[in-house]
Amino acid sequence: MSASYKNSAWFYDRLSRLVYGNALINAQLYLLRFIPADATVLIVGGGTGWILEELTKLHPSGLQITYVEVAADMMARSKERNTGQNKVIFTNDAVENVNPGLNFDVVVTPFLFDNFTTETTEKVFHHLHELLKPGGIWLNCDFQLTGKWWQAVLLKSMFLFFRLICGIEASKLPDVRSLFSANKYLVIGEEYSYGDFVAAKVYRKR
Ligand SMILES: C[S@@+](CC[C@H](N)C(=O)[O-])C[C@H]1O[C@@H](n2cnc3c(N)ncnc32)[C@H](O)[C@@H]1O
Repeated sequence: MSASYKNSAWFYDRLSRLVYGNALINAQLYLLRFIPADATVLIVGGGTGWILEELTKLHPSGLQITYVEVAADMMARSKERNTGQNKVIFTNDAVENVNPGLNFDVVVTPFLFDNFTTETTEKVFHHLHELLKPGGIWLNCDFQLTGKWWQAVLLKSMFLFFRLICGIEASKLPDVRSLFSANKYLVIGEEYSYGDFVAAKVYRKR
């Protein structure tokens, strides 16, 4: 089972803003700055697709984007977004089932892994690792626990809420950091926000 956010598209962005203000958006804006011109980009779990419009503000043309989102209602909203002159292929499926037939300069996983069990995390990680070119950039943001009590409370509430509403599978954060280091990725940028609960990291594949 994967972590579909089906049926949440109509409230997801508003709820995220209500709880986190601009923190989740800013984490992704930080990451987008690392995308070079004319790159081939794979975005996985882009939600309602606002990230496409922000990326288009930085690169109105020249990008070749593959946008993979498993929830149909999220995908429907994403397709409405302004993507300028960039070439975008939309794929409504779980990314682990998708073989785009090309390798990417950049992979973007914005708050994707924190919904997964360890098993799904490893499967998705290795699939995306294979799709990224050597020397390519992997932009990842997720929640992290740094020992503050309220982080654990907020995380538990999120898991409970999204399990009830959308049936997500996770009940604890997967250890994505270990997967990056086991696969010899270099951290070339990082930014923390919301009392260090939100971590945005820029990795380079060797
Ligand atoms: C926590 S939401 C984050 C949405 C968006 N990145 C944001 O920050 O607003 C995770 C998104 O990943 C999508 N998703 C979950 N599992 C997926 C998978 N296996 N393949 C593609 N998309 C997936 C969900 O449907 C959801 O839209």
